[in-house]
Parts: sequence; structure tokens; C-alpha cells
Amino acid sequence: MENSTKLGTAFDLERIQAFSGQVVNDLSAGMSGVLVQIGEELGLYRAMRKLGPTNAKILAEETGTFERYVQEWLNNQAAGGYITYNVELQTYHLPEEHALVLADGNSPFFMAPGFQVVSSLWYDKDKIVKDFKEGKGIGWHQHHHNLFFGTEAFFRSGYRANLVSEWIPDLEGIEDKLIKGGKVADIGCGHGASTILMATKYPNSTFYGFDYHAESIETAKLRAKEVGLSNIVFKVASAMDFKDFGFDLICYMDAFHDFGNPLEALQYAKNKLNENGSIMLVEPASFDELEKNFNPIGRMFYAASTTLCVPHAHSQDGGYCLGAQAGPERVRRIVEEAGYNAFKIAQRTPVNLIYEIRK
Ligand SMILES: C[S@@+](CC[C@H](N)C(=O)[O-])C[C@H]1O[C@@H](n2cnc3c(N)ncnc32)[C@H](O)[C@@H]1O
Repeated sequence: MENSTKLGTAFDLERIQAFSGQVVNDLSAGMSGVLVQIGEELGLYRAMRKLGPTNAKILAEETGTFERYVQEWLNNQAAGGYITYNVELQTYHLPEEHALVLADGNSPFFMAPGFQVVSSLWYDKDKIVKDFKEGKGIGWHQHHHNLFFGTEAFFRSGYRANLVSEWIPDLEGIEDKLIKGGKVADIGCGHGASTILMATKYPNSTFYGFDYHAESIETAKLRAKEVGLSNIVFKVASAMDFKDFGFDLICYMDAFHDFGNPLEALQYAKNKLNENGSIMLVEPASFDELEKNFNPIGRMFYAASTTLCVPHAHSQDGGYCLGAQAGPERVRRIVEEAGYNAFKIAQRTPVNLIYEIRK
């Protein structure tokens, strides 16, 4: 159907309606995101998992919360399909499959902390708007702390699902070394979620977590202490100035594309890597053809890239701003320029690309 505005511009009403529906859906998800965070913080999901089919009164009693609020929260969750509602019994239920995504911090499917990352973007929105105009860049350390904690918990799930069970065993000759006793660097380790998983799996190896962000390193040290690991060292250092050497494996877990100078980082790492050692780049999944990234996961990564990755890279020297959707070919060219002879995509998951690089 074609209509005209008062100004005479033609438009298709059905197309407006369809697109409005899409935006309403996004608005609904955007507003509900904070309710996921609330549910996580108040333990509502965890209590629902424990209780089975329940109602607002019982859930409020169980969690020490105010029933009327819980009633509204439950209705939002049911409207979004996060929980189910039994019309006859008037009970709400969190299916076990959903509990693994929303209520279980140890599950490889746990995604609730993603909304904590989203909240940090809103906290920093004015800063980001200002930087769009000034273009000075925003360092990781300049963001709201929800980003650091949200990233840790959100990424940990993916690492839990893949890192020591799939990715490391896939690297040529690396797992044997780590079982016997090797040396590993995790560059841009943040709160050390990946470093700790690796150090736990390979107790005979020594793990070094480096990050330029001192606050993150403090938290990482705390985390290692909490789990009682002694084969792990966290240090404040940038990708271009960590002093330790002789590594069998150097990993960059969702950090490489953030560097202002990824080329220099790889050149620097070359001198720190043993002859038969490997570099593992874990990057957000992306394709070289721009249009192939136009899907829900690409959309999420472009949002993170616009607000976090590009401004961070721009805040550092080097002139690179790869962004979270750089694509394998751009990465390959940097690896080649850095003087490495072997580069391959070791694995691809819906959210990550795993690159293996050797001298
Ligand atoms: C997206 S976060 C990923 C953190 C962690 N690897 C994880 O997966 O949870 C990127 C990390 O890279 C760190 N980083 C950024 N630029 C860096 C640099 N030049 N040297 C060292 N660390 C850097 C940031 O401080 C941040 O902790």
C-alpha cells in the first residue's frame, strides 16, 4: 500500500508498521534487560529454579522481596517468554533449559551478565556522545565498573564451554606441553576468567595474566586467591611491555582487536614465544564480507565495537581501530606483517573465531 505525507513523500504504510513492530520488540527487550539484572541481583531466577512452579507470594517470601513488585516482574518475564505461566494453576515456572541461561553462574550457557555490560554503556552514554564529536578515544579503564564485572561473568560462560575442552586441545602440540608443565601468557586478561580456567585445568603449568588496567588486575588476583591457585601470576602490563618470556602459548582473549597497535603487540610477542609455541587469538566471530555480519550477533558486536572497542583502540597509540568485526583477512594481514609464517582459523563458533598463529 502506498500513501503520501503532507509533504508529498511517498511511503509504504505496511512497511512502517512492520518496522515499528521491530522497534517495539527492541524497546521491549531494552526495558526488560534491566529486569534480568534485577532478577539476577535479587536471586529471583535462582529461587525460581529451586522452587519449581510458584507464585509471587512464595517467591517474594523466599527472596525477602516485596510481593507486589515480584508480581509485576513475573508478568514481564512471562510476557517475554523467559518463564512460563500456567493459566489454570496461576503459577510461574522457570524451565530448566532457561535456568541454565539465567540462573546458573556455573553453566556454560549463562548469559544474564550480558545485561550488566549493557548497563555500563548507558552509564557511559554521555561520555560516548562527547567522544563521537571530539574523537579523543575512551580507554577501557575510563568505563563504568559494570563493564569489567559484566564482561568477566559474560565471557566466562563461553570460555567455560570451550577454552580447555575445545580450543586449547585443537592447537598443535600445545596441550601436551601444558599437561607436562608449560608457560602461558594471557594478554589483556581483565579479571582473569580465562587465565583461571586454564590454570585450574593445567596445574603443572604456570600462567601469567597481563592487563594494562590496574583495577582489573587487582580483581584478578583476588579471584585467583579465592580459588586457591598458586600457578598463576597477574601483573599490570601492556601488550607491548610485559617483561616475562619463554612462553609456550600466548593468548589474547577478546582483546587483540582492542589494541591501538595490534601489529606491534604481535611483533613484541614474537620475541617472548618459544620456537614451537603458539599464539591463540580469540576474537568475536565475524566475516570479511560486511553484509554477512548483519545479523543479531553482528549487531550486538557492532554496538560493543562502536561504544567500547573502537574508542579504546583510538585512545591508544598506533593508529589501528580494528573494531570487534574485523574479519579474518584483516587479522591475517597483520599477522603476516608481524613476521609469522603460520596462520589459520582453528575454530569458529557462533560467537567466536579462534586463530592459531605460529612462528
Ligand atoms: C574486552 S576485554 C577482555 C578481557 C578478558 N580477556 C576477558 O575475556 O574477560 C579487553 C581487555 O584488554 C585490556 N587491554 C586493552 N588494551 C590493552 C593493552 N594495550 N595492553 C594490555 N591490555 C589491554 C583491557 O584492559 C581489557 O581488560
